[in-house]
Amino acid sequence: MKILGIETSCDETAVAIVTDDRKILSHEVLSQTEEHMPYGGVVPEIASRAHMNALDRLITKAMKDAGIKNPNELDGIAVTSGPGLIGGVIVGVMMAKGISAVSGVPIIPVNHLEGHALTIRLTDESVTFPFLLLLVSGGHCQILKVMGVGKYERLGISMDDALGEAFDKVGKMLGLGYPGGPLVEQRAAMGDPTSFNFPRSMVGKPHCDFSFSGLKTAVKRQIDSLRDEDSLTPLLPSSLINNICASFQACVGDIVVDRMKNSIKQCQNSAPEINTIVVAGGVAANKYIRGRLEALCLENNFILKAPPIKLCTDNGAMIAWAGVEKLKLGEVSDLSFTPKARWPLVG
Ligand SMILES: Nc1ncnc2c1ncn2[C@@H]1O[C@H](COP(=O)(O)OP(=O)(O)OP(=O)(O)O)[C@@H](O)[C@H]1O
Ligand SMILES: [Mg+2]
Repeated sequence: MKILGIETSCDETAVAIVTDDRKILSHEVLSQTEEHMPYGGVVPEIASRAHMNALDRLITKAMKDAGIKNPNELDGIAVTSGPGLIGGVIVGVMMAKGISAVSGVPIIPVNHLEGHALTIRLTDESVTFPFLLLLVSGGHCQILKVMGVGKYERLGISMDDALGEAFDKVGKMLGLGYPGGPLVEQRAAMGDPTSFNFPRSMVGKPHCDFSFSGLKTAVKRQIDSLRDEDSLTPLLPSSLINNICASFQACVGDIVVDRMKNSIKQCQNSAPEINTIVVAGGVAANKYIRGRLEALCLENNFILKAPPIKLCTDNGAMIAWAGVEKLKLGEVSDLSFTPKARWPLVG
């Protein structure tokens, strides 16, 4: 089976062609970082227009790289149908519907979050259901029990900011640029994680929920208190920026480990047994957080599985693979489905 995957829900225009035996035949990701950089975050109108300008070119390139001359050689067209910035989602869905209508190839609407959740099964065939999923991205922060394709049980969720959003806001406050996650990670590697003691919200609470708004405010207050009012430059000295990043990241690590400990407890006596934690979404690219989860898994006889770094942030292969999984279950659609800005995996 060869499936085309189209992803346009945020600020990456991404297309890939993936086979059911886990080969990625082509993989195109065009990031809009440059366009959004001056605004310090994604501007929906700019994102939709950029998707519209790039998508047909990326699809043509992906088909060529995969050696596919005609769309009717495909077995399915998987497309992110939500959740996401609605303008971008519409661009991807309309393109997928157009190709499907002309070629007669079945269309498979994919939940973007399910794309993140299932990526690990594209890159590691040993991962079987059920598993525990920490989904940490730009817009989401959840702990889920994944029982199968489309079968999710939520154990915890952020009450406020997503974890990627918290990284991005800290990056912005420190003047590091956008997206903040990878930049904060780089600076943290050069800093002292014990310099500042930021609040570990929810740590010690018996549930699996998160809250990052208090942490974000604490970082802001700290930055404000360190800033020299008389200085001509609004930025802090580099060593202080590194220390704030390291302390923030260490705080996030403690929070994530504490919440995951509770979720492991909640999985005890699950049938069938759960012994795998999968971390997915953009923040899963963070090596420090992966390391902390690795240590937690070792202590608890769990195995940590994480996709390759380049498949953690948004990409077309994850959507194509979710399409493979759904097509195998016969989950294709007619052309009447509509794009959704909101589409929770549970409820
Ligand atoms: N190394 C890293 N450390 C921390 N955060 C990171 C790292 N790399 C990427 N991120 C964060 O991941 C997020 C992007 O992830 P992703 O592309 O999955 O999000 P999204 O698609 O915008 O959101 P969602 O998947 O919830 O719709 C950004 O917030 C970014 O800062
Ligand atoms: Mg995403």
